[in-house]
Amino acid sequence: DKSLGVAVLGCGSVGSQVVRLLQEQAGDLAARVGAPVELVGVAVRRLDAAREVEVPEGLLTTDAAALVARDDVDLVVEVIGGIEPARGLILSALEHGASVVTANKALLAEDGPTLFEAAEKAGRDIYYEAAVAGAIPILRPLRESLAGDTVTRVLGIVNGTTNFILDKMDTSGAGFGDALQEAQDLGYAEADPTADVEGFDAAAKAAILASLAFHSRVTASDVHREGISEVTAADVASARDMDSVVKLLAICELRPGADGGEDAVAVRVHPAMIPRSHPLASVREAYNAVFVESEAAGQLMFYGPGAGGSPTASAVLGDLVTVARNRLAGTRGAGESAYAARAVLSMGES
Ligand code: HSE
Repeated sequence: DKSLGVAVLGCGSVGSQVVRLLQEQAGDLAARVGAPVELVGVAVRRLDAAREVEVPEGLLTTDAAALVARDDVDLVVEVIGGIEPARGLILSALEHGASVVTANKALLAEDGPTLFEAAEKAGRDIYYEAAVAGAIPILRPLRESLAGDTVTRVLGIVNGTTNFILDKMDTSGAGFGDALQEAQDLGYAEADPTADVEGFDAAAKAAILASLAFHSRVTASDVHREGISEVTAADVASARDMDSVVKLLAICELRPGADGGEDAVAVRVHPAMIPRSHPLASVREAYNAVFVESEAAGQLMFYGPGAGGSPTASAVLGDLVTVARNRLAGTRGAGESAYAARAVLSMGES
C-alpha cells in the first residue's frame, strides 16, 4: 500500500490545527482516502517558536524550498499566507509533482491564474476551500454544485472581524475603536487589522467568489473597496431606528450585456444597511455567511465559522482528502485555468 506524504508549510493558528488533525485523524483519513496520509515535514520560520501543537521530532524544518522538492512529498499544504514566499513555493511544489492545498486568499485574488496554469501544466490539483469563509463550504458549491445553473448574485459577509465589530456596535452602542479593541483581544483581527477594517481581506475573498460564481477571472484590483473605519455609533443607531443593521458586504453581480453583448461582472465591498428581516442580518459576532442567487435554484445561504485555526483547518483537511483521492485515482478535479476574463464594471457604471 503506497502512503501519501504531506508537507505543511507554516505552523501558525491554521497550520498547527492541520498538523493536529493529520495526527489525530490518521486512521479515518487513511480509510477515506484509501491509503495512509503521512505527515513528512512542517516548514516554519523559526524552529524555537512557541506552537499550539507538538510537532513530532525531526519533522520541523526552516528550509521550505527543499521540503517541497522532496520525492516523498505528494501533497503540499500552504498556510503561510501572503504573496511571497508562498507563490514560489506553490509553483515549485507543482513543478516537483505535488498536489497543493492552500488557504491563501491574498495570493489567489492577486495571481490565481498563474497558479491554475502551473497546476494544469503539471497535471496536478490546487484546491483552496479554506481561502474564503473558513469552514463554510462555499467554493466547491459555486464551482461544482451550481455549475449547471447561472449564478446572478453573491452577497457575502466574509470577514469575521468586521462583522464582530459592527455587531458589537449594534448591540452595545460601542464606538468603532472600542469594538475593534475587543475583536483584537479575542484574536479575530489579522496581525495588521487594516486588512480587515479597510476591507482588503473581504475584497480578496470577493474576487475569489466572483471568479468561481461567474466562471471568470476577477482579481482583487477589480474590486471597488470601502472599509468600516468611518462607520460611527450614530450611523449604526440610525440604521437601528430604521429596523436595519450595518454589515460589511461583498457584492458580486452578473450584469447581462446589452443587445446580446457580453455579460459583465461588478464586484464591490462596502458597508451596507440591510433590513433586520434579511437572512444576512441574523449573522452575529464573527460568523460569516454567503447568500447566493441563481436562476434555477433561487436563493441559497451558506453559514458558519469564517475564521479561526480549527474551522479553517477543517476546510483544508477536506481538500486534502479530495486531492489525495484524485491522486490515487490518477485524476484531477475541476481546474480553473480555462476561465477567461470578463468585463469588470467599476462602481457607478451600469
Ligand atoms: N481576519 C479574517 C476575518 C480571518 O476576520 O475574517 C479569516 O480570513
